[in-house]
Amino acid sequence: MKEAMSQHLTHAPSSATADAVGEVDAERGDWWRDAVIYQVYPRSFADGNGDGMGDLPGVTARLPYLRDLGVDAVWLSPFYASPQADAGYDVADYRAVDPMFGTLNDADDLIRAAHALGLKVIVDLVPNHCSDQHEWFKRALHEGPGSPLRERFHFRPGKGAAGELPPNDWESIFGGPAWTRTVNPDGTPGEWYLHLFAPEQPDFNWDHPAVHDEFRSVLRFWLDLGTDGFRIDVAHGLVKAAGLPDIGHAEQLSLLGTAAMPYFDQDGVHEIYRGWRRILDEYAGPAGEERIAVAEAWTPTIERAALYLRPDELHQAFNFEYLSTSWDAAALRKVIDTSLTAMGAVGAPATWVLSNHDVTRHATRFGNPPELGTQQREPGDRELGLRRARAAILLMLALPGSAYLYQGEELGLPDVTDLPDEVRQDPSFFRAAGQDGFRDGCRVPIPWSGDEPPYGFGPAGGPSWLPQPKSWAALSVAAQTGDPASTLELYRSALAVRRQRQELGAGTAVTWLDAPEGVLAFRRDAPGGGFVCTVNLTSEPVRVRLPAGSRALLSSGADYAEGVRPAVADATADRPAGGPLGVGGPVTDNPVHDGIEPVIAADTAIWWAI
Ligand code: GLC
Repeated sequence: MKEAMSQHLTHAPSSATADAVGEVDAERGDWWRDAVIYQVYPRSFADGNGDGMGDLPGVTARLPYLRDLGVDAVWLSPFYASPQADAGYDVADYRAVDPMFGTLNDADDLIRAAHALGLKVIVDLVPNHCSDQHEWFKRALHEGPGSPLRERFHFRPGKGAAGELPPNDWESIFGGPAWTRTVNPDGTPGEWYLHLFAPEQPDFNWDHPAVHDEFRSVLRFWLDLGTDGFRIDVAHGLVKAAGLPDIGHAEQLSLLGTAAMPYFDQDGVHEIYRGWRRILDEYAGPAGEERIAVAEAWTPTIERAALYLRPDELHQAFNFEYLSTSWDAAALRKVIDTSLTAMGAVGAPATWVLSNHDVTRHATRFGNPPELGTQQREPGDRELGLRRARAAILLMLALPGSAYLYQGEELGLPDVTDLPDEVRQDPSFFRAAGQDGFRDGCRVPIPWSGDEPPYGFGPAGGPSWLPQPKSWAALSVAAQTGDPASTLELYRSALAVRRQRQELGAGTAVTWLDAPEGVLAFRRDAPGGGFVCTVNLTSEPVRVRLPAGSRALLSSGADYAEGVRPAVADATADRPAGGPLGVGGPVTDNPVHDGIEPVIAADTAIWWAI
């Protein structure tokens, strides 16, 4: 069955070719500890064939942009064969590329091209559930109750006199019950099956050895193709509490991420990841460069997330506590300290993230009241949101550990909050009382160039799968390139500085400096240099005291500090003309300011060299 569904390469995979391996040899084995990893959402990054949908050849063609931006790795959301009930997080064949995104050869080309540019490639692995069009599930349904294939999922008879009630009270993350009733091959009402997400996403039963075997094989398939790692979707969900016990009350979504749930963060998941780590370690490259896994694990506490990162388990986990923290100095300082302590205890790097394909973009969140949380439809104060977003990226990139960027944040893109209902595709939008239904707003295709949609996302003509706003011409990559005040050039400069000054991502701690209320100031020291980051999170200019000899390196705002000349322009100008931007290009310190007590503008971050 596997053979029938999987695609095959027409040539040897990337990992088997000497030239591709040679490109990554020079890297450190533990490259991931301070890597900046850029999330590509393939539907919305670049459309190579003009059908309005992003695809793998489109991504490959744009890889030089990512190299020039200065990131270390690319994580691609799923591009596998899928009916797209949940934008590809419903996988029908884990070894095949969906025709909408291209072919397996296109994936191989992408990996080779990335490696040739010195970029790592991380693919999304979806082990909690598959698609209802996966061969196993189709056969399980077809064969009816008693089929051994049903044991690979969670099929149960219903409760009630005629089995008309779901087997337990679990609710789907997307809204409604987490169970759907089947119809027997003879047309009578049948058993129910569990789906923590959409009904088209049946959960695997991880008590079954065939499920373990299958995913070990899938890991090897993509490792053999040359991928450098995996993002593990719903990593906290694979194991369910024995007996699938009731929770006892409704509104369970409000408890997610804060309370223990019988379907999330069960201790049994750790044994699975120990097994996967052994496979990943087998594949370490010739110079010791490691293949990695990053967990999407929503856990009640950061300490519980750290358990996934013990030395024999996964390498990183997304820091959702950080993502969920509002623009508040005390709250940010607390989450930074808690993260560094919890991750340090298991020897793992902390990670930092502000946006992804599931939440409202932070340039919009930061312009809205914090009570609105991470799922919003209010446009908010655009100017304020962008100003804070620019400060937030300098804060994030100055922290020790690994940083995740979501495509388009380097352009300062806002969420699209006014998408008409008829174009929406997020499955949770269609399920009442769902998780959110707002996720389409952060998934609108990227503007690359030009005055009108599709802004170079694909060949002119056809509309993109989600419509782009009229106002995005000014936000395109082409429009921002070369403008020292643009958000794109701020990101390029910040990433270039981060490459040049190892103390930014390295290490495991920050030294907090005394600062007025509402201001964060910390110092990072490394052999041969020191660095200070100051962030004014208040809405007033604030005077801060800096260590002697501090010189401004980079600021998030143009009006950032009294008596300090904008350093962004300097950083940009010092790159080699016509050469790759941000790839270790020289970014000299701005020597004009020796500011011991500068006044920092509202909602502004500044990097200083000492
Ligand atoms: C993860 C993904 C999300 C998806 C869900 C179900 O949370 O990030 O996009 O809907 O898993 O696979």
